[in-house]
Amino acid sequence: MIVVLIGYMGSGKSTIGKELATVLNYSFLDLDDYISDKENASISELFKTKGEIYFRKKESQYLNALLDSSKDLVLALGGGTPCYGNNSDVLLNNLNVKAFYLKLSIPLLATRLFNEREKRPLISHLKSEEDLLEFVGKHLFERVQYYHKAEYTINTDLKSRQDVLEEIVTDLI
Ligand code: S3P
Repeated sequence: MIVVLIGYMGSGKSTIGKELATVLNYSFLDLDDYISDKENASISELFKTKGEIYFRKKESQYLNALLDSSKDLVLALGGGTPCYGNNSDVLLNNLNVKAFYLKLSIPLLATRLFNEREKRPLISHLKSEEDLLEFVGKHLFERVQYYHKAEYTINTDLKSRQDVLEEIVTDLI
């Protein structure tokens, strides 16, 4: 089985994913880290030197390759992965995939992301927390239709990491 974690930047996909993999005794992969390794460049460098379209093509290509692997895996996607090309169909149509949308409210996302925006090319240009709040609001409005295609949605706002993990594990059994 491949447990796929979907959600906006800063929603905790990698943090939760690593812990979930330990609980399930599965391998863990972060799609961004995988792309960086394969392309020998950070995500910011890839955006800067090759552009977003190149990144989206590689993202799709590596997603497909990973979904073809037969081993048990927890896979944290990038925030944009389900929103481009036919990625959401590829995820939906794969019988080995269980997809979870980690949902977090816009103010919490903006607060979390503000201090980490440098390493995220889509938001690194935003100067104030208000600008970021507005950006996240609009961006999420465009993306939420793709996130909601996941079989499960976990509202993480008022939950501890342990609660989120337990909810996912319960949904899996
Ligand atoms: C992106 C999210 C990032 C990374 C890239 C683009 C997006 O991943 O893939 O910067 O389009 O939302 P995280 O969600 O892991 O930050």
